[in-house]
Amino acid sequence: VSESTAKNPPAADTNGSKFTRLRQSLANFSRIPLGVFPTPLDPCPRLSAALGPIEIYVKRDDLTGLAFGGNKVRHLEYVFGDAIQRGATAIISGSNAHANLPRQVAAACAKLGMRSYMLLRGDKPEHVSGNLLIYALMDGKCRFVPLDSFYNDFSRLADEWAFELSAAGERPYIFDDVDPDSHGLGLAALGYVNALLELESQFQQLKWRPDVIYMCSAVTSQAGVAAAMAATEVSYRLVGVSARNPGAASTITKVANQASTLLELDHRFTPEEITNLSDYIGPIYGKPTPESMAATRLAAQTEGLLLDPVYTGKALAAVIDHVHQGLIEPGSRVLFWHTGGTPALFDPEVALAIEERWQHDGSPVPLDHLPRQG
Ligand SMILES: Cc1ncc(COP(=O)(O)O)c(C=O)c1O
Repeated sequence: VSESTAKNPPAADTNGSKFTRLRQSLANFSRIPLGVFPTPLDPCPRLSAALGPIEIYVKRDDLTGLAFGGNKVRHLEYVFGDAIQRGATAIISGSNAHANLPRQVAAACAKLGMRSYMLLRGDKPEHVSGNLLIYALMDGKCRFVPLDSFYNDFSRLADEWAFELSAAGERPYIFDDVDPDSHGLGLAALGYVNALLELESQFQQLKWRPDVIYMCSAVTSQAGVAAAMAATEVSYRLVGVSARNPGAASTITKVANQASTLLELDHRFTPEEITNLSDYIGPIYGKPTPESMAATRLAAQTEGLLLDPVYTGKALAAVIDHVHQGLIEPGSRVLFWHTGGTPALFDPEVALAIEERWQHDGSPVPLDHLPRQG
């Protein structure tokens, strides 16, 4: 085990024995410090006022501190904890070509003197931008896999690459974040068990608790938060907003149960207990929708808060829509969990959408797709 391997720092027990027990279970897992924690919990008075009489706080996991931050930093603290304990010198993983994971894996590898090998779903772009540009900057290695065969072929291709790399002297560790039954996803979810403990300490200090948490997630982050919420029996609700696959509740259930098993918690989930919405993905994963662009503009223009229109903007679009529909009632306290992803703002397609709506004559930009105020 590397000298930098850290156990979870003992945090003040604020909420009784269930929290203490969860902290103790979590402390049995190796965690490599990669980020800057706790991330801020900020009030959003102007965003709250723009949406009506509700109170929104934002948990700033865009500020986790490693190479533009984001939720994966928390996941990877536990994945790399395991990899380093097993003597790994390199990580093999996979994701969509535009996604945030490669950037954060490469950054963690750079920090720890390891190497990053990514199977990327999609075609090799003519020019790199956004997350992939940062991946290239950190010299992450990649192989592109066609869109339709990626999920079937990931495991075989990762094994083959591991075999090649081993022959060349690396000790590769495969972080399989494609198969919901993989050990890696259960470990990654521990990052968000830890995050919920961190957030609870902040609620305690602030003397504020939400009625409901909204977060962009289709797998790992929601699984970890759900497992921690069940273990500690907190009273607020959790609404996940998928930016990726429809019907994510069954995957989240599997990963939440894996995390609960690792931590020896009593509760096991059924998909009916997981609320995850598919309504805001839009026609194509990874592309902005008019609603996610409007939500991204609203956060930027009311709070100077940068979201992105392919992940977190879709989660705020859900909040806006739920206020509009009355599913979030006037007076509600809402925690919006920002999961990062801001480099997507520099994707040429996103940049174009922003530019097209930018008015040069100084007149106010109309904020459509928004609920009426008051
Ligand atoms: C910015 C951002 N938010 C949220 C997510 C969802 O992550 P997960 O489904 O692993 O919780 C991702 C990755 O898919 C992401 O990059």
